Amino acid sequence: MHVTHLSLADFRSYARVEVPLDPGVTAFVGANGQGKTNLVEAVGYLATLGSHRVSSDAPLVRMGAERAVIRAAVTQGERSQLVELELNPGRANRARINRSSQVRPRDVLGIVRTVLFAPEDLALVKGDPGERRRFLDELVTARSPRMAGVRSDYERVLKQRNTLLKSAAMARRHGGRSLDLSTLDVWDQHLGQVGAELLAQRLDLIATLQPLADKAYADVAPGGGPVTLEYRSSVGAEAGPERSRDELYAQLIEALAGVRKQEIERGVTLVGPHRDDLVLGLRGMPAKGYASHGESWSYALALRLASYELLRGEGNEPVLVLDDVFAELDARRRERLAELVAPGEQVLVTAAVGDDVPEVLAGARYAVSAGEVERL
Ligand SMILES: Nc1ncnc2c1ncn2[C@@H]1O[C@H](COP(=O)(O)OP(=O)(O)OP(=O)(O)O)[C@@H](O)[C@H]1O
Ligand SMILES: [Mg+2]
Repeated sequence: MHVTHLSLADFRSYARVEVPLDPGVTAFVGANGQGKTNLVEAVGYLATLGSHRVSSDAPLVRMGAERAVIRAAVTQGERSQLVELELNPGRANRARINRSSQVRPRDVLGIVRTVLFAPEDLALVKGDPGERRRFLDELVTARSPRMAGVRSDYERVLKQRNTLLKSAAMARRHGGRSLDLSTLDVWDQHLGQVGAELLAQRLDLIATLQPLADKAYADVAPGGGPVTLEYRSSVGAEAGPERSRDELYAQLIEALAGVRKQEIERGVTLVGPHRDDLVLGLRGMPAKGYASHGESWSYALALRLASYELLRGEGNEPVLVLDDVFAELDARRRERLAELVAPGEQVLVTAAVGDDVPEVLAGARYAVSAGEVERL
């Protein structure tokens, strides 16, 4: 799929901007702080309902404005659609498809698909497990948009279970009434069901992503691998393409039973997908804590390129967004990366220096300056 038109109102630094887009490569070029990343961040938001830079919506709304609107016309094969999201920080966001009546924001997932690589992705390698869980879950959702519902169910069940455990822990400390364990059993079952679903999807994803990540790393850093992706599960589940949901459910329930006493003491859920990690291995060592800066950067890029290949291979061609990538690479790697991504249906590139964008990526160019986006 590709975006044919992007329109923003009160998004970040833009009061209003209209950007017609072609398939193929488009480069946004301009000095620092002019609004290049803001444009691609908006496209990414339509695909994930989140920003790759901030965890809340407030900074996405132009300072002084009340709400932001992101609108995009999208073409997939013969089909064209218009998606629109209104961001209302502190209140519910609103969404529309083809100017019809309102839908839930999560209903627009799957219309715009992106794989976005940005300097912030270094946190995938160097950051906390939460960064890697988000990476996995966003990709799981890109493969199968209905997983957005499973993810939010999991969050909800987890929150409610934690509330129950917390009040049990409080009661225990103050000598109050002890917890009705049958209630907790019910929450265990809910958590086990949605947790197993999420776990199964993550494990299947990792098994599929592994060879692609290894290949992508060899492409961006020849001879630097191998790369291994290993799921570290709090319930002992291992990666594999066809782990049965029942099996994972049983593992989760057993693990919950095993930590129940501690959970009631501490008032928090100690096992489940929200406690898991993806261990990124490089030449037999964990990349986190061992890999150099350049290696970590190549690793993060390789994970994104592998994601891109995966979605393309599944007939789900996303828009590839490369935010500020080329400045970090030497001339040879720049050319390699450019050749790799040039055939993509749509590639959006940002660069502070136009000459950093390789020749192979000749396409449309926009100058971005003080919130003006002008086609060159
Ligand atoms: N909510 C907001 N309201 C108004 N301006 C904002 C808001 N959020 C960010 N900005 C402004 O947007 C600009 C940053 O835009 P952006 O990140 O797109 O820059 P860029 O062109 O990608 O720069 P660089 O080359 O440094 O990456 C900053 O000047 C910032 O002050
Ligand atoms: Mg930028």
